[in-house]
Amino acid sequence: MRYAEPVEVKKFGRNECVKSVLVFAVNYIIVLALVSLFIWVNTIGRAGEDFIGYIDGNFNTVIYLMASIFVLFFTIYFYYFFEDKSVLCTVKSIWLIFLLLDVCVVICYFFGYFFNIYSRPIALLALLALTLLGRRDAIFLNVIFALMMFSIDSFSNFSNVNEYENALNITPLMTFSAGMVGIFVASRVKTRIRSFLTGFAVCLPILAMTACLEFDRGQELWYLMLYGLEAGIFSSVLFMALLPVFEVLFNCITDYRLRELTDHDAPLMRELKDRAPGTFNHSIVVAHLAEACAIALDEDTALARAAAYYHDVGKLRQPEYFTENQAGYNPHDELSPELSVDIIRSHAKDGFELIRSKHLPKILADIALQHHGTLPIKYFYAKALKMSDGELNIEDFSYAGPKPQTKIAAIIMIADASEAISRTLPDRTPEKVENAVRDIIEERMDLDQFDECDITMKDLTVIKETIVSCLTGVYHSRVQYPKLKLKRKEEETKENG
Ligand SMILES: [Fe+2]
Ligand SMILES: [Fe+2]
Repeated sequence: MRYAEPVEVKKFGRNECVKSVLVFAVNYIIVLALVSLFIWVNTIGRAGEDFIGYIDGNFNTVIYLMASIFVLFFTIYFYYFFEDKSVLCTVKSIWLIFLLLDVCVVICYFFGYFFNIYSRPIALLALLALTLLGRRDAIFLNVIFALMMFSIDSFSNFSNVNEYENALNITPLMTFSAGMVGIFVASRVKTRIRSFLTGFAVCLPILAMTACLEFDRGQELWYLMLYGLEAGIFSSVLFMALLPVFEVLFNCITDYRLRELTDHDAPLMRELKDRAPGTFNHSIVVAHLAEACAIALDEDTALARAAAYYHDVGKLRQPEYFTENQAGYNPHDELSPELSVDIIRSHAKDGFELIRSKHLPKILADIALQHHGTLPIKYFYAKALKMSDGELNIEDFSYAGPKPQTKIAAIIMIADASEAISRTLPDRTPEKVENAVRDIIEERMDLDQFDECDITMKDLTVIKETIVSCLTGVYHSRVQYPKLKLKRKEEETKENG
């Protein structure tokens, strides 16, 4: 799960254990309250039945229902206890999980109540959980959701369900399979329109099961099939409608949000394109390299891409002081090396502040601040050395840091420098590019730039190979065109005539 603001991950001690159990208990009470609401709604308009009367007369069933929901909560707790304790340490994450379950249970219940049991958007939870929590959690929560709906249907007085007894028996399997189809199809989906189309894929298991179960209903089967189609479409429509609400409520960064930020028309990107076109082009190539590295290392590709787009936005403060935006005139020629270094190194801090001031995800601001680590700005250090007779402190000519704190930040650091150096190479044969990228990585290792992130030697080799293959692909040498001067036809006939 990605939050816009970093969540402090504590150790799972006694305090965290007590806190997480309390949040689970509160949510258990909320689910029981919801189920009571469903039972009460079901008694409305039924002659001779009221809420208290139903509870009295079906005490055993109510106890079964409470126990089955308790077992499901227990399973959720133990899943996260053994798989990912950081979720139990963060109250916000626990609330996100239960709010997802509650919202989907309520929506499915009312779809069943007002329309038909086959029309319930049963893949909604799977789609939301996939985007907000990741595939693994989505698969697990989809199973829990299927069993929870089954318990509620079986142990409450839900008349619509009783009409379709076959459907009741198949509810868990139908919910599970529709959710799984949703998870595997939507994992590859990158645009909102394709998310909508996912709804049609989700329909398939629902339609197949409806056809098998209800084929003896004759004409009514077609209505039920239409309800099945509706279930899939509403799963994807409600997913798109609810996702931004969860993004805002829990401050989550989803792939959709990151993709919107890297749209060339996003405000900061448009400003970069207009005021610093050289930096904008550089960022696009860095994004291409970073994305390829993230794919090769199985890292977060959407985040790598967005981080690359925003890594140099700090240059917007004084774009003309950076080589890629200069056309001939270089203002540094009139400045002392000390002043030049101040301007150059401040772009990392300026980027951090600019991203924060626009309320963009902090993770992008952090990477902008870390992408040069504590590296020296060699050009101006050498210039200052030439101009002075005494010793100079290299730290006065270095970036302020911090060093990259994550693998993605390290990828951006290497991709950034590789792109810059590849522009200076007179010929970009794979050997030359490989040597240049290897030098970049070795120099950063010698200067301890990767000490504070969890990157391995194997990762660095993969990054090097990926960048070399991308750069030689991007900058492949072109066939030289012959220099021909073409004349207009009339001139040619005049000359011949
Ligand atoms: Fe930079
Ligand atoms: Fe850069």
